[in-house]
Amino acid sequence: MKNDALNYNNIPFQALFSEEMIFSRVKELGLQIANDYQGKNPVFVCVLRGGIYFFSDLTKAVPILVELDFIQARSYLGTESTGNVELIKDLDSDIEGRDVLIVEDIVDTGRTLKFLISHILSKKPKSLEVASLLFKEGGEEDVGYPIKYIGWNIGKEFVIGYGLDYDGKFRNLPGVFLYSEE
Ligand code: IMP
Repeated sequence: MKNDALNYNNIPFQALFSEEMIFSRVKELGLQIANDYQGKNPVFVCVLRGGIYFFSDLTKAVPILVELDFIQARSYLGTESTGNVELIKDLDSDIEGRDVLIVEDIVDTGRTLKFLISHILSKKPKSLEVASLLFKEGGEEDVGYPIKYIGWNIGKEFVIGYGLDYDGKFRNLPGVFLYSEE
């Protein structure tokens, strides 16, 4: 882990994963996924909005034929989970009988993912797997579904950047940083 500080509109954040670290981990995951889906034509589902950069880099790191779709749910206000998850945008494609990979930015309590998994399973895909860049400790209790591809396991800290936001801000930071109020 790096300890660089970044000045973003004069707010210093501590770096957890630099852009370089993320690119090399995403490349590894991409090769692993390509190997697992060889000869198949999976649908990769981006969980908006936080998943955009991971999804964009991961899909380019998977040298097989894939189709892309997008889904959006909401469960958070500020740094606290509201406990309620609602679907804001559904998939556009018909995924019945298809191999589907959900691409998430982060799993915290696992409630959002649990909701999305059950929603997508109701559409009868042939297979369903999950890739999440980050996985916070304790998340597996609530998900109740194996997460096959994980970039890194982290603690309970709140993180921003590379798609992750605090109240809509900081998504475009090039790496993942620890959020602090100062
Ligand atoms: P969960 O339902 O508690 O697993 O929360 C999942 C969603 O909450 C993620 O898809 C993120 O959008 C958001 N989230 C959870 N932890 C963080 C964080 O540390 N930073 C930014 N967003 C987070």
